[in-house]
Amino acid sequence: MKKADPASDNPAANTRKVFVKTYGCQMNVYDSQRMADALARDGFVETSTPDDADMVLLNTCHIREKAAEKVYSEIGRLRQLRARRQKAGADLMIGVAGCVAQAEGREIVVRAPAVDFVIGPTTYHRLPDVVARARRGEKVVETEFAVEDKFEHLPEQQKRQVRSRGVTAFLTVQEGCDKFCTFCVVPYTRGAEVSRPVAQIVEEARRLVDAGVREITLLGQNVNAWHGEAQDGRQWGLGELLHELARIDGLARLRYTTSHPRDMDDALIAAHRDLDMLMPYLHLPVQAGSDRVLKAMNRKHTGDDYRRLVDRIRKARPDIALSGDFIVGFPGETDADFEDTMRIVRDVSYAQAFSFKYSPRPGTPGATMDGHVEETVKSERLQRLQALLGEQQAAFMKSLEGQEIAVLLEKPGRDAGQLVGRSPWLQPVICDETVGKIGDSVTVRIERASANSLISSEAANRRRAA
Ligand code: 5AD
Ligand code: SF4
Repeated sequence: MKKADPASDNPAANTRKVFVKTYGCQMNVYDSQRMADALARDGFVETSTPDDADMVLLNTCHIREKAAEKVYSEIGRLRQLRARRQKAGADLMIGVAGCVAQAEGREIVVRAPAVDFVIGPTTYHRLPDVVARARRGEKVVETEFAVEDKFEHLPEQQKRQVRSRGVTAFLTVQEGCDKFCTFCVVPYTRGAEVSRPVAQIVEEARRLVDAGVREITLLGQNVNAWHGEAQDGRQWGLGELLHELARIDGLARLRYTTSHPRDMDDALIAAHRDLDMLMPYLHLPVQAGSDRVLKAMNRKHTGDDYRRLVDRIRKARPDIALSGDFIVGFPGETDADFEDTMRIVRDVSYAQAFSFKYSPRPGTPGATMDGHVEETVKSERLQRLQALLGEQQAAFMKSLEGQEIAVLLEKPGRDAGQLVGRSPWLQPVICDETVGKIGDSVTVRIERASANSLISSEAANRRRAA
């Protein structure tokens, strides 16, 4: 911190605390953990509130305008907190990481001078150095795309050290995107597609399993674009990588997200058929149903290409459930185009979905296209789409009532005698503690489904008896 700690001869007072606030996608969740690990080596411990923190690190999201604006409001609140601290003779360091940091860079310290440092997603391995410079009073903006590999540059000690993170963990296998969908900032904020090498991924997965993890979700902005070289020199895609990871003793479940329809190759579809531990749940965004809009979005597939792909995946793994992302009101989208989106949703049927109004992102081709859609029209369309998706989600949840399903037990439940686990389709499942212990994969019968969670028969019985 810039000011000396008045109680610095007390060792407990020398522990500095960092509060990391994460916005946006799971990749940010993973990056936040890694940044916290890097700062731990510098003596920082994590805290769950800014109120007792010496440093607040905002790991930001730039995907839609609202997401970016939230960051500036948060900085405003932190500025006030810092002013109060300074009055009391202490200080607060404020750092901005993530995609807003990458996209806006120096703009952030101009617009919000309270910010001490700005660091982009490809340079997190430089975080300890950035913090050290900021502590010396420099305003650091570190957003040049790193030429070195941020994973390879993790210090050995940090590579070995895995904090126990419970039963499930994320593992980044790929970052960046070369697809350039015309609405999306990711290719600009996260840079070109980079795949991590097989050996690094397998090593990290083994370390996670050794630390007690039973379910790994492979992460990437375009995860199924992952490619690498096997030990024998063969070229592998994500399907082959999943087979390799499935051989790790003690690992019970695998997932991956987020996928692009164009990168669902035969080997990956076959992995869904051949690997029981690959969970039957796939996030496969289509974004829109109209071929004209898909073309303007530069998705490079049609609605029917997507339908055929879904058929092939369902043939390989009949119990697979799909989730998706949708954008309404992309420039030029007519009522008829929007009806095509509604039609593809009806044809495919989703267990879960995320849907958004198109939000023009500076620097992307979509932002300067003709035919921007009125906000009220976007809202109406979003409402109709969400009503349909909501019905489908409710129907999927209802279909699980009375079924026996596999649950990976994750943590104690809210009430005594309960454990909470996850279904293969990611819903929390409330179980009775007698079914097993945390980390076990068990089979339970589902008594009832609510909007977002499931309750097993034994847990429902206990509740009734209580
Ligand atoms: N406007 C609205 N939604 C967007 N998404 C990405 N960019 C935009 C944008 N400019 C959505 C897409 C993507 C998800 C992560 O966010 O649906 O799949
Ligand atoms: Fe963005 Fe498209 Fe790349 Fe996904 S595939 S990150 S939507 S550009």
